[in-house]
Amino acid sequence: MKAIIVTDQAAGTAGMKLVERPEPQAAINDVVVQVHASGFTGDELTWSPTWTDRLNRDRAPIIPGHEVAGVVTALGYGTTGLSVGQRVFGLTDWYRDGTLAEYVAVEARNLAPLPGDVDFTLGAALVMPGLTAWQGLFDHGRLRSGLSVLVHGSAGVVGSMATQLAREAGAYVIGTGRAAGRQTALDFGAQEFVDLDSDALQGIGGVDLVFDVLGGDIARRSAGVVRAGGTLVTIAGPTNARVADGRTIDFVVESDRAQLTEIVQRVRDGRLRLNIGNVAALDDAVAAFNPAKRVSGKTIIRVRA
Ligand SMILES: NC(=O)c1ccc[n+]([C@@H]2O[C@H](COP(=O)([O-])OP(=O)(O)OC[C@H]3O[C@@H](n4cnc5c(N)ncnc54)[C@H](OP(=O)(O)O)[C@@H]3O)[C@@H](O)[C@H]2O)c1
Repeated sequence: MKAIIVTDQAAGTAGMKLVERPEPQAAINDVVVQVHASGFTGDELTWSPTWTDRLNRDRAPIIPGHEVAGVVTALGYGTTGLSVGQRVFGLTDWYRDGTLAEYVAVEARNLAPLPGDVDFTLGAALVMPGLTAWQGLFDHGRLRSGLSVLVHGSAGVVGSMATQLAREAGAYVIGTGRAAGRQTALDFGAQEFVDLDSDALQGIGGVDLVFDVLGGDIARRSAGVVRAGGTLVTIAGPTNARVADGRTIDFVVESDRAQLTEIVQRVRDGRLRLNIGNVAALDDAVAAFNPAKRVSGKTIIRVRA
């Protein structure tokens, strides 16, 4: 099969190569998915599970990409709940070869059925931002109607999803980002916008939840705007930000069949819009992940036309 591989961590996306690789086999409780659309997160090549297995052994060359939409072509021993020929989508294991390939082996529990009227490109594009926003807002952030949330990077891939889901849940949403992202954030439903380069965060008063995608100093400064009993949730890695009278949570997204089903339903009925910046073929994937100029929005690789 055709696949993108990376061998050298230091080379980053510039080290991506399109090569021939053996097709994966389905292990116990796996399915093999013929990939129709694949997604890759910008800094995946810096994550430790990209380069090692669970025993910390080097697993390069690796196939990156953890978001998939495609069709089941084989079942491993013991696999139940999915069938050959079924359309599926989901998030694959960080420690295994990924989805920038014509086939990928995935634990069946990490996949959900993809409704027949949802394009594979949309299916792949909603997986990572949809699950991350959902889990950050509702599982970890306990957001509900009437509460307020500050969404950092609200014009970005995950932030635009968090903004829409939070609004739909009846929360008051303050988006942040660079000045150039203001209109995009408002279009995704933010009711106010803070330009992090020139507005003071303190100017917004208190919020019940901060949903952080930026980390570092921005996460630390944000801890000060969380109301007593509130929460700072960050997806930008381990943080030393601390909310004085509340919770700080850093987490890594997990696949969840029920949540994928909820989120895809919102895409079907027009309640959620995906932030897709570029769609390219597998043959053009290396160039798509090494653009001459920054592309905002998710890049999706359409592996099968
Ligand atoms: N923990 C997890 O489970 C998990 C899951 C998914 C993603 N992530 C991580 O979350 C992060 C965000 O991902 P994403 O796909 O949403 O990225 P993205 O689309 O680039 O979104 C980031 C947004 O924040 C803005 N921004 C970046 N730096 C800024 C700064 N210093 N000040 C103000 N605005 C700034 C960006 O504006 P510009 O476009 O102008 O730069 C963009 O609008 C990544 O690091 C990703 O790896 C973690």
